[in-house]
Amino acid sequence: MRVVSALLGVLTALVLVPAQALADEPPWFIAPASEQASLVARLFNIELAVATAVAIIIWSLILFVLVRYRAREDGTDETPKQIHGNNALEITWTVGTAVVLLFVFAVFWQTMNALAATPDDAMEINVYGKQWWWEFEYPAYTREGSDEPVRTGNELYIPAGVPVKFNLYSDNVIHSFWVPRLNGKTDVIPGQVNTTWFQADEPGEYHAQCAELCGVQHAGMRFKVYALPQDEWEAWIEAQRKPAVEPQSELAQRGAQLFLAKGCAGCHTIYGTNAAGRVGPDLTHFASRHTVAAVLPQTSANVGLWVQNADLVKPGNIMWQTMKNVPLSADEVEALTAYLLSLK
Ligand code: CUA
Repeated sequence: MRVVSALLGVLTALVLVPAQALADEPPWFIAPASEQASLVARLFNIELAVATAVAIIIWSLILFVLVRYRAREDGTDETPKQIHGNNALEITWTVGTAVVLLFVFAVFWQTMNALAATPDDAMEINVYGKQWWWEFEYPAYTREGSDEPVRTGNELYIPAGVPVKFNLYSDNVIHSFWVPRLNGKTDVIPGQVNTTWFQADEPGEYHAQCAELCGVQHAGMRFKVYALPQDEWEAWIEAQRKPAVEPQSELAQRGAQLFLAKGCAGCHTIYGTNAAGRVGPDLTHFASRHTVAAVLPQTSANVGLWVQNADLVKPGNIMWQTMKNVPLSADEVEALTAYLLSLK
């Protein structure tokens, strides 16, 4: 019984989980979607091939010795010839190992240099690692009638076919910015600005994930990259520059008042209103996003769940630590949800 369940566990881990992930999005080392990710994939595949060749040689020799010199029942055991020092052998495995390591190092060095060459004309985006979400700031695109840059959260919109440089900031712990199909990881370190860049070959959606253990919601610190055709991206950034639309329905208007009255505005910005907090994500065009807190699809039920009990969605998040002391009635949750979903 134990053997069966162990086998099922191994089968799930080796076959079903990757199969499900594959159905969602092919892995970066099979389907890189930028020249940068292709370089990383090439490095990975070369090193995998070298490591596999070395493993096959060593395991074959070990297997050979195990079988050839095993204890035999009929007493025909054979003791191998005993050797004390062999210069030819020792030089071979020292030089052989050095050649393999130097080759791997050379490919690595060449890849790192190619990846480090950020084009001068790259578009710049500032990325802030928060606990536990991502903020994206477009310094070259200010809000209409303001010097404040466009800011979004958990969804990164970029034009396809254009090099984009990312300046990585953290004011808390170390995170790591990773869009597997577009480039390798770069750490996001407090007190230091690291940079990375990529150019998505084609329009598409790409999963991204914080890749440095950063606290209880590290796994929930994911985001999605939307690479759009140039004209669609320009339409998107123009829409993001605009102030929030006025709520139309009575319910949404009540939600707008509650947003200020319940203290939501202390942490969130909704440009064009009195809400100007900088702790949580900018919600100016919240309804144009696809998810709630990067982990649930943006439906009215999920927005309501987040507003009422964010801890159920992302246990340990900072909003909950504040809002658990601010009771909201079902009516108030409904009004706040209507307001948030009116922010197209
Ligand atoms: Cu941020 Cu892990």
